[in-house]
Amino acid sequence: MKILVVGGGGREHALCWKLAQSQEVHKIYCAPGNAGTALVAENVRIAADDIDNLVLFADHQNVDLTVVGPERPLLLGIVDAFEARGLRIFGPSREPAMLEGSKAFSKEIMRRAGIPTGDFAVFEDTGKARDYLKAQTFPIVVKADGEAGGKGVVVAQDFAEADSAIRRFMEERIFGASGDKVVIEQCLFGEEASVMAFVDGETVIPMTAVQDHKRALDGDLGPNTGGMGAYAPVPAAPLAVVEEVTRRILRPAVEAVRGTGIPYRGILYAGVMLTDAGPMCLEFNCRFGDPETQVVLPLLTSDLASIFSAAVDAELETVPVKFAHRSALTVVLASGGYPGDYEVGKPITGLDAASKLDAVAVFHAGTRKNDEGQVVTTGGRVLSITATGETFAEARERCYAGVRRIQFEEMQYRTDIGYRAL
Ligand SMILES: Nc1ncnc2c1ncn2[C@@H]1O[C@H](COP(=O)(O)OP(=O)(O)O)[C@@H](O)[C@H]1O
Ligand SMILES: [Mg+2]
Repeated sequence: MKILVVGGGGREHALCWKLAQSQEVHKIYCAPGNAGTALVAENVRIAADDIDNLVLFADHQNVDLTVVGPERPLLLGIVDAFEARGLRIFGPSREPAMLEGSKAFSKEIMRRAGIPTGDFAVFEDTGKARDYLKAQTFPIVVKADGEAGGKGVVVAQDFAEADSAIRRFMEERIFGASGDKVVIEQCLFGEEASVMAFVDGETVIPMTAVQDHKRALDGDLGPNTGGMGAYAPVPAAPLAVVEEVTRRILRPAVEAVRGTGIPYRGILYAGVMLTDAGPMCLEFNCRFGDPETQVVLPLLTSDLASIFSAAVDAELETVPVKFAHRSALTVVLASGGYPGDYEVGKPITGLDAASKLDAVAVFHAGTRKNDEGQVVTTGGRVLSITATGETFAEARERCYAGVRRIQFEEMQYRTDIGYRAL
């Protein structure tokens, strides 16, 4: 099989790395990729959301299967465009991808399917939203409907804070059309976890549960980021909980989407709160998480290319999907200043030394090779260092041993990834 992976971050490097282990795969392209994907794939200079050129490329190169990493191209309809050309692609088409693209749509699906989730109301009118708020107890959660780069959710402690979120989303329109609607949602309490699943339209096969760390600083302090690390499995979400999430959240969502006409095919990611009343759904994403993928794929013992291929052919039930009974941990190495302003172009040392360590994988996120052949930083999140082990403690020790081999100017990372597992 010739495979095209769309995207250029740590998630896509992990996808290329895992696909490269498949007997079925003889060529991998990655668009646009990074210095890490170049080690296992051929990078292609096409942006991840340049759908027209991705279609042309896949067609000309006779790519057998395309796999999409980020949500943006999915929300733009990359799957619809590939399928219209008769090209095989793994991911949800535009409409079902709205499970991630619109929080209002997603909550309506949850309600219709009887999925356990916080009580909520949707508003297009600020006056009505404010009237509703006045009758609520706090804390309460205010969510901008559309894409907001992970910044569209406010857990408001009082009326003033909720009101200010409504003003910024709907009146100042800080996220543009994403603030045309807001969801006001009951605040849930508990431990958070993520369960991602392979879906072929009908069959739903969950992966090991993951917990990620979104805050920039140790102790879950500081500003929100794209994700500073993750680990799996999650002690609070053993197999029985993963099965419950599959039965009560993932499967009903897939069935409800099928009822709207277009089946859901791709990765379905459920963000859940493990409450006293059981797992409740916070949100859906329509693709692999980053950095969640960097811990889940190293635990997958089955052939990833065969899984994707079977899912595209709607025969997921025919392939094995197995995970090792081991632990995995990933730590993101970020540029100094991230998620605020940071400098790029910093040379990175120690990449080979870290990769040679036992059970350690160095996934690149924001890197490129410069004209002198040196690997330099290009983004906020630069690398994602993953290790596996028989136990969580072993994975963590190996991971941070890898982290210590690597250096670049103003490198920043968290020293406590996975502390909730202890
Ligand atoms: N109903 C809720 N109760 C408590 N916390 C919530 C609720 N909804 C969201 N959150 C918190 O806000 C974070 C972001 O919300 P989420 O719905 O996952 O949106 P996004 O990932 O698109 O920003 C969650 O990870 C969770 O910590
Ligand atoms: Mg989320």
